[in-house]
Amino acid sequence: MSGIIVVGAQWGDEGKGKVVDVFSAESDYVVRYQGGANAGHTLVVNGKKTVLHLVPSGVLHDTTKCIIAAGVVLDLEQIYKEISALRVSGTLKSNDQILISDAATVLLPHHRKLDQARERALKNEKIGTTGKGIGPAYEDRAARRALLFGDLFLPEEKIRKKLEHSLKETNFLLKNFYDSEPVSTDEIMAVITKASEELKPFRCQDVSLLIHKAMKGGRRVLFEGAQGTLLDLNHGTYPFVTSSSTIAGSACIGAGVGPTAIDKVVGITKAYTTRVGSGLFPTELLDETGEELQKKGAEFGATTGRPRRCGWLDLVALKYAIRTNGLTSLAMMKMDVLSGFDEIKVCVSYKDEDGTLVDDYPMNSSTLGHMTPIYETIAGWSEDISGCTKIEELPKNAQDYLNKIETAVKTPIDVVSVGPGRKQTIWVNPLFND
Ligand code: GDP
Ligand code: IMO
Ligand code: MG
Repeated sequence: MSGIIVVGAQWGDEGKGKVVDVFSAESDYVVRYQGGANAGHTLVVNGKKTVLHLVPSGVLHDTTKCIIAAGVVLDLEQIYKEISALRVSGTLKSNDQILISDAATVLLPHHRKLDQARERALKNEKIGTTGKGIGPAYEDRAARRALLFGDLFLPEEKIRKKLEHSLKETNFLLKNFYDSEPVSTDEIMAVITKASEELKPFRCQDVSLLIHKAMKGGRRVLFEGAQGTLLDLNHGTYPFVTSSSTIAGSACIGAGVGPTAIDKVVGITKAYTTRVGSGLFPTELLDETGEELQKKGAEFGATTGRPRRCGWLDLVALKYAIRTNGLTSLAMMKMDVLSGFDEIKVCVSYKDEDGTLVDDYPMNSSTLGHMTPIYETIAGWSEDISGCTKIEELPKNAQDYLNKIETAVKTPIDVVSVGPGRKQTIWVNPLFND
């Protein structure tokens, strides 16, 4: 069996898309197992940028099959937009490259509308969602009134009945609670009818079975996480989180595979930290160093274009990600962005209000708010490292930075990324051992 989970170790946007694209060269399947079009995964090949929101990041490899599994909330309009763009650019050569689980939750315009109405109503207390309807779609799933992808192929009357069941409550809320216009069943039915024709070729009735058989047959499967550990619904910085489980265990739940099918869990982390949206961020830099990181790292959201908040790497949080995901190794992204800083800081522990050192990430968000980061300062380097292809080519201080992190978190760094491009990747250890 060869199952590898790629998971964000921070607050998302760590570079999962790039890593999955690079890993896909050696993989037969890539599976998106949670989240939806709130994700924005960027792939850069020969200078050409592709941003994917729902299509798995293996799609640039013709022979890698890309699967959207049951745990995903599937925005019908967005997925078709993405597929069409990939066809036009010549990337998608055959419909066989993409498969969508019949059990995926369908996300419709009223979910987006409710998400946005709620955020508006929250005024200064906003979660800062992407406005893509993720929360309301998962709520419908949990309330057992969601339409599933397989329902799209039922007779029209049956679909309409299911839809009306879901719309009844949403429209009540929109009209009476959020002072917004309700949505009409006909309007949503039009979206569904169009999508059922457009997306029929991608239908897969049993993704779990497909993956099971593939793995039994010795195929290599990558599970592509969206968002990041600290945005996890149960284990993140609640309530400023997304509405799905983002940690590695979610791959098993969302795809329908058992934990014993997983050989490795690779945690993706930037060499510093970013966050989009509201919520606590202990190592955030609200000064010119933060601005410099944002500028050099081009830190603007791939989904909403919002500026990302920036700060130093937080090893307390990284150790938490290692624990909650069971990370077997790390990919250290955006090392090139740190070139040119005289000094680089790393948060090695927190201090609480009594001056007590805290090494374990506080589960409780209000406790996290009382933590002051304790930093260690490491000498920087001035060289441009974006052309380095081996660890030995990195300046000594960059190597020291990596060694320091590896030792502190007791987890090997298997991959170092020195630029957005596919080739700007340094392999320290091979991905597959077989
Ligand atoms: P994801 O959501 O985890 O897939 O990450 P995003 O695509 O939202 O954000 C990561 C951004 O960093 C993208 O613009 C990538 O092209 C870029 N990127 C990835 N790795 C590197 C790297 O090593 N160096 C630099 N400079 N940019 C990188
Ligand atoms: P990728 O996969 C970064 C954040 C939003 C907001 C919170 C809730 O590209 O790493 P939601 O729309 O999910 O209800 O928003 O989660 N968020 C992300 N931040 N990267 C992402 O995805 C994110 N997806 C959601 O900014 O704070
Ligand atoms: Mg992203």
